[in-house]
Amino acid sequence: MNDKRDGFGSKLGAIAAAAGSAVGLGNIYRFPCLAGENGGGAFLLIYVLIVLCLGIPIMMAEFYIGRRGGKNPVGSIKALAPKSHWNLIGYTGILAAFVVLAFYSTVSGWTLEYIYKAITNYFADKDIAAIEQGFTEFHNNPFRPYMWQVIFMGMTAFIIFKGIKDGVEKYTKILMPALFVILIILCVKSLTMDGASEGLKFLFKPDFSKVNGTMFLAALGQAFFSLSLGMGALITYGSYISKKDNLATTSLSVVVADTMVAILAGIIIFPAAFSFGIQPEAGVGLAFNTLPMIFDKMVGGYFFCIIFFILLAIAALTSTISLLEVIVTFLTEEHGMKRNTATWFGTLVSLFFGIFCTLSLRQDSVFVFGDMTFFDFMDKFSANILLPIGALLIVIFVAWKMKKESFYDEITNQNTLKIAVKGFVFFIIKYVAPFVIIAIFINQLING
Ligand code: PHE
Repeated sequence: MNDKRDGFGSKLGAIAAAAGSAVGLGNIYRFPCLAGENGGGAFLLIYVLIVLCLGIPIMMAEFYIGRRGGKNPVGSIKALAPKSHWNLIGYTGILAAFVVLAFYSTVSGWTLEYIYKAITNYFADKDIAAIEQGFTEFHNNPFRPYMWQVIFMGMTAFIIFKGIKDGVEKYTKILMPALFVILIILCVKSLTMDGASEGLKFLFKPDFSKVNGTMFLAALGQAFFSLSLGMGALITYGSYISKKDNLATTSLSVVVADTMVAILAGIIIFPAAFSFGIQPEAGVGLAFNTLPMIFDKMVGGYFFCIIFFILLAIAALTSTISLLEVIVTFLTEEHGMKRNTATWFGTLVSLFFGIFCTLSLRQDSVFVFGDMTFFDFMDKFSANILLPIGALLIVIFVAWKMKKESFYDEITNQNTLKIAVKGFVFFIIKYVAPFVIIAIFINQLING
């Protein structure tokens, strides 16, 4: 471990990589799916409140652990609290990385299938029923979903082999802004469709009769999932951030970018879905069935469709990279594995579980328990349980185990930056975040 540790080359690179981790399928497919199932506007409101009030401070807490500890989640915590059991938090994170990667790689594979379908002009002139049926047939295909999933994980591994500066940073810096531009174009198109206002009303007009405990937990889980919090992805990236960068503004930028992409996705999907008669509760298919329909109705739709799914695949890739990087940094630093071996190991294990997620979506699959597929189980287990618990432990660690001075020192770059809100942020980490997370859990236990 004598060789110099890799790291981000610039402030923009660090932001792009963290935003790359945050922005992904969570924003474009998972957020609309949950908002649709939970009544739209009220869900959005609770989600945004959680993201702004808890998301930014918790992100700063993770960056703090990572940059100060200088290692993977387990190693960083060991460095900050030697000879204690706090590093168990790190292990929860490693477990979460495997669980998320498993079902995430399934959906990532779909993006490649959609690129293929876009190029071969499969969507042209199809109505919504045909597109929905095509999606179901794809899940039942004995070969294609697995092939794409394996290819996608191969691409992830390829970038991880290359390391931080020449892999992760180089790609995210160009690709994230490109995704943003195309989302704006799609937004304009969706808003000008017949019946668009219905969709907007659904997304922005809160119907408080829909509020319940399950929705709070879903919003909390989605907030952590979307911001990549609660499992050490940002502890790991924090360890690669330069000592000169401002952790507060980095967190703010990432949270704002991530939330804007989620809202943009909502503005694209709901108006179009209403206009095509797709139910907002359509679940995983909501984004994947609605989007091709929009392109089909658009001038230059053929090209936009291809570019969009390429960018979606890339957004997914910058997230799977951050997930695999957690595992790889952990294995190399804590278990002395070579980077290549660790990459192979992480890829194969997560693919193993990932294949079962994909299998569970087949009609009459045996990997369905009650009415929950193994895919849903991994999704809910990570977002609604592992990530909130991880985040809870992280804030408790930072506020109650570490000293306030240590947090301030790191956040202000040893008193060279003025961070006016640092006391407020620490207050949230110490009292508000644990209280809110525990309250949402208890509420769900009692009522769910
Ligand atoms: N934030 C990513 C998304 O929204 C998913 C992710 C979760 C990535 C946790 C890393 C860690 O798609």
